[in-house]
Amino acid sequence: MAFYTLIPKKDHILLLDQRLLPGKTRYLKVRTYRDAYDVIKRMAVRGAPAIGVTAAFGVWLGARSVRTNSRQKYLSELQKASKHLVSARPTAYNLSWAVNRMMEVARSGNLAPAAVTAALYKEAVRIYHEDIDANRKMGDYGARLIKNKWTVLTHCNAGALATAGYGTALGVLRSAKDAGKELKIFADETRPFLQGARLTAWELQQDGFDVTLITDNMAGWMMKQGLIHACIVGADRIAANGDVANKVGTYSVAVLARAHNIPFYVAAPSSTFDPAMSSGDGIIIEERPDKEVLTIAGTRIAPAGIKVRNPAFDVTPAKYVTAIITEKGVLFPPYKKSIQKLLV
Ligand code: MRU
Repeated sequence: MAFYTLIPKKDHILLLDQRLLPGKTRYLKVRTYRDAYDVIKRMAVRGAPAIGVTAAFGVWLGARSVRTNSRQKYLSELQKASKHLVSARPTAYNLSWAVNRMMEVARSGNLAPAAVTAALYKEAVRIYHEDIDANRKMGDYGARLIKNKWTVLTHCNAGALATAGYGTALGVLRSAKDAGKELKIFADETRPFLQGARLTAWELQQDGFDVTLITDNMAGWMMKQGLIHACIVGADRIAANGDVANKVGTYSVAVLARAHNIPFYVAAPSSTFDPAMSSGDGIIIEERPDKEVLTIAGTRIAPAGIKVRNPAFDVTPAKYVTAIITEKGVLFPPYKKSIQKLLV
């Protein structure tokens, strides 16, 4: 891979500014937890696992800035920073998962603030490496489902850019390619934020994939002509019954896949599963600014005063999901049972 999504340094992290891709490769210096909140909120970093890893470092950066020897005061300041970080984006479960894991480390033992801050750095680095490791394992499991000479459709970006490295859905495709399978990839452009056109197309092209960009409304017609053999996407949050929240448009792809008898796969690490969410009905869907729908690359495309809706995610009911690829194996329906087993 010719880039890193995030690079941990001694007193800050460097983060690839994904808003500038594919035109520019520029790294942002993230020095404080407020910086970490901003890069997540403004989508300089995006993709559930990458958001989680960034937030983990955000907690550590928050800890670095607390100036007190009182453990109680330290923990209460850290709790405030954590709450702020979690509020950056509501749908990606990895965000609260990572922050909670960091807070557990902070609260465990009875260490003095300086020692906790050192432990938090180690934990964030651990979360970072675990994410890459999980993606590689997912790749190995998922590659077995992908057949030679297939054309696979993906939506949004669930690649190295959306994780600490390698990717979830795109990691599966990388592993299948490395195993010698000849693949063609169709990337949905993914309006309105264009993660498919700007990020997936760029990332896969860099890796030497045979990738074709289509607009979101073309997928059905491609399927009708027999040009797509499988779909694979990532996830932002998976409920205990297997309902999958992912980038808006995923639901349409899943319904189309079912109508054309094409397998629809989801690849996600166990840190994306929300055991407290019994079904997708309760998942909060982030509404993003109207501007994203009203403009393309800064140019206005709709009349003044028009009403706009901009939900950033949708929920695909479990019944449309052929299998969920995780770092611990491939889950099949009934998901309530297979997810329960995954999370023990
Ligand atoms: O709004 P985004 O770009 O953060 O949305 C990203 C997605 O929907 C991804 O598919 C999901 O987070 C999985 S990334 C491995």
